[in-house]
Amino acid sequence: MAGIVLVGAQWGDEGKGKITDLIADDFDYVVRFQGGNNAGHTVIHAGRTLKLHLIPSGIMYPHITPIIGNGVVIDPKVLLEEMDELREQGLSTHRLLISCNAHLIMPYHRDLDGASERRLGKLEIGTTRRGIGPAYMDKASRMGLRVQDLTDEHIFRKKLDAALSEKNDILSKVYGLPTYTVDQIAEEYLAYAERIKPYIAETSTLINRALAASQWVLFEGAQGTLLDIDHGTYPFVTSSSPTAGGACTGTGVGPKKIDRVLGIAKAYITRVGSGPFPTELHDETGRHLIDVGNEYGTTTGRERRAGWYDGVIVRYAVHVNGLTDLIITKLDVLSQLETIKVCVAYEHEGHRYNELPCHQSTFHHARPIYEELPGWRSDITQCKTFEELPAAARDYVSFIEDLAEVPVAMIAVGPSREQTIMRRWKGRV
Ligand code: GDP
Ligand code: IMO
Ligand code: MG
Repeated sequence: MAGIVLVGAQWGDEGKGKITDLIADDFDYVVRFQGGNNAGHTVIHAGRTLKLHLIPSGIMYPHITPIIGNGVVIDPKVLLEEMDELREQGLSTHRLLISCNAHLIMPYHRDLDGASERRLGKLEIGTTRRGIGPAYMDKASRMGLRVQDLTDEHIFRKKLDAALSEKNDILSKVYGLPTYTVDQIAEEYLAYAERIKPYIAETSTLINRALAASQWVLFEGAQGTLLDIDHGTYPFVTSSSPTAGGACTGTGVGPKKIDRVLGIAKAYITRVGSGPFPTELHDETGRHLIDVGNEYGTTTGRERRAGWYDGVIVRYAVHVNGLTDLIITKLDVLSQLETIKVCVAYEHEGHRYNELPCHQSTFHHARPIYEELPGWRSDITQCKTFEELPAAARDYVSFIEDLAEVPVAMIAVGPSREQTIMRRWKGRV
C-alpha cells in the first residue's frame, strides 16, 4: 500500500486537516490536488493550532515532502503569507514543492468572483470570493497563467497582456470596475516569483517515482464530494474535482496507483454558502450543533449551516469516490442530545429515493426520511477505543456503517489528534 487519497464525503469542513495530520507521520509525501485558498484545514499539532489554506496538512513533519499539485489554483500572495506565518511559528517550509503546471489566481480573478456574486444577488453561490471559480474558468478557456510562467518575464507579460485585453473589458464594461495594466500586475507577481522560484518542480514525475519506490503518498483533498463540479449539487459547488478522481488528474498519477480512498464525514453535516440541504435544521438542535461544534468557516468566518447526518449523501460519496474506509469526526458534538436522527432516504411527491435523485429540483425539495436513534448523554471525549464508547454511541456508528456499506476506520471524539479512536486503521507496519 502506498497511494492513499483522503477526501471529504459531505460539503467540506469534515475534519480533513485533522485526519491528514494524524496519519501523515506514516507518509513520505502529502499532496494537495485541487482547490485553492477557499480551503481552510485546521490542524492542532504539538499544542499549536494551524489554519492551512494552500499548504498540505503534512507540513509539520520534517520527513515529509509537501506538494502543491497541478490541479490546485494558487494565489501567490496568500501562499507566501502562509509560508511566512508557518516560519514565524518555527515551522520550516523549505521542503515544499509546487507544480510548475498549477494555475495562478490573478487579482482580476478575485474581483470577478466578487462581482459575479454581487450580480447574482439572491441567486449567489456564496463563494469564498477568493477568485477560485474565475481562475478555473481561465484554465478551461486556456487563458490562464501558470506557476511556470513566473520563471520567464517575457512569457509572463505576453500571456498577461492577452488575458488583460479581455479581462479589462469585462471588468469595466460588464461590472464597472477598475482595470489593470500589465506593468501593475507584472511588478507585483514578478516580485512573488523571486520567492516562489526555488519551490517550483515537475511534481508528477517525483510522485510517480516515489510510488514506484513504494514510498507512501497521501493525496489530501479540499472541499467535499457534494462541492464537486461534476458530482456535487451544481451550481452550488466549487469549480474543481474534490472527489477521488481529482487526485489523479490533479497530480498526474494513474488510477492504479491509488490503494485506498478514505472518506471523512462528520457525525452530522454542515455546509457553507448557498444550495440545497435536505437535513438542514433551523431549530434549537441546529443551533446546538453550530454552537457545540463551533461551526464557523475556517476561511471566511461565516456561520456554517448544520443538520442531521445524511446517509444518502455519504452512500453517494462511497460510490463516486470508491471509498474503502469511512472516518467519522465530531461524534462528541452529539453527546448531549436525547435522540439523534439519521436520514436514510428522501421522499418527494410520493416517491421514495434511496439514492441521490437525478434531478436537482427533486433534491431541492426532497424531504428527509429519518430513523431516530437514542443518544448517549455522556462525555466521550476521552474514549480511546471503540469498546470504551457508550453502547448508544457504538450503535450510532454501526448504523452509519451499515448505511454506507464501508467500514468505519476511525472515529474522532474531539479536535486534538489524541481524541481519535483508531478502529480499523493499521497504517504503515
Ligand atoms: P477541514 O476543512 O475538513 O480540514 O475541516 P475544518 O478544519 O474546516 O473544520 C473542522 C473543525 O472541526 C476544526 O475546527 C477542527 O479542529 C474540528 N474537529 C475536527 N475533528 C473534531 C472532532 O472529532 N470533534 C470536535 N469537537 N472537533 C473536531
Ligand atoms: P475545506 O477544504 C466548505 C464552498 C463555498 C461555496 C462554494 C463555492 O475547508 O473543506 P468557491 O470559493 O470554492 O468558488 O465557493 O464552495 N466552499 C467550501 N465549503 N469547506 C471548504 O473547503 C470550501 N471551499 C469552498 O462556501 O459554497
Ligand atoms: Mg475547512
